[in-house]
Amino acid sequence: MSVLFFKRFLQRPFQIASIIPSSKALVERVASKMDFSQPRVIAEYGPGEGVHSREIARRMSPDSHLLLFELDAAFSRALERQFAGDARMHVIHGDAASLPYELKRRGIACCDYILSGIPFSILKIDKKRALLRKTHDALAPGGSFIIYQVTNELKQHATLFEHAESEYFLQNIPPMFITVFQRAPSLHGRGRRAAQPRKVSGLVRVGADRSA
Ligand SMILES: C[S@@+](CC[C@H](N)C(=O)[O-])C[C@H]1O[C@@H](n2cnc3c(N)ncnc32)[C@H](O)[C@@H]1O
Repeated sequence: MSVLFFKRFLQRPFQIASIIPSSKALVERVASKMDFSQPRVIAEYGPGEGVHSREIARRMSPDSHLLLFELDAAFSRALERQFAGDARMHVIHGDAASLPYELKRRGIACCDYILSGIPFSILKIDKKRALLRKTHDALAPGGSFIIYQVTNELKQHATLFEHAESEYFLQNIPPMFITVFQRAPSLHGRGRRAAQPRKVSGLVRVGADRSA
């Protein structure tokens, strides 16, 4: 068991919402939902100590970018140490809701994937809807929002997305629903998979960034 994880849970049980990180099996299953054959811009909400982030970093190309939004200061510091020296990784100590601002200030147009491990179910309804709207709008046409959660209650609120597919994954304690919400492809039929270069100019390393 991760000592840091357990300690952070004791400090902020509702925010951390779990006493152990995701299992290796869950991490691999979630990563298998993403296509790493092209450079990607990916955002992760609530990386914790970085189990999913490490797997994504291992799979993504040298010109991809992963933006990590973590509210907890101790986890954020640990992530900064862990990914120091990897220019693809951007640790943001702040709320996932700051995604549009963080993309804009780096000159990034949109994300291919947004992964979330935050406890959406305990968010107040207005915050939940606002974050879903920001998440939807930050995705490229055809992009995916991927969540892993104990309950599948978010599905009823995530009506902005064109398509949702869930599976119940037992190889984790506790078992989790993994749901992939897909933003509609563009009207011209060109979705995210059409390897258009993303506008990532002005992208800066923000290892020491503090937005919250
Ligand atoms: C259940 S833990 C998941 C940790 C890790 N992703 C894993 O799978 O082991 C939830 C994490 O989300 C973070 N978190 C909760 N609400 C958040 C928010 N609004 N923005 C960013 N991070 C948040 C918590 O601090 C915690 O690290």
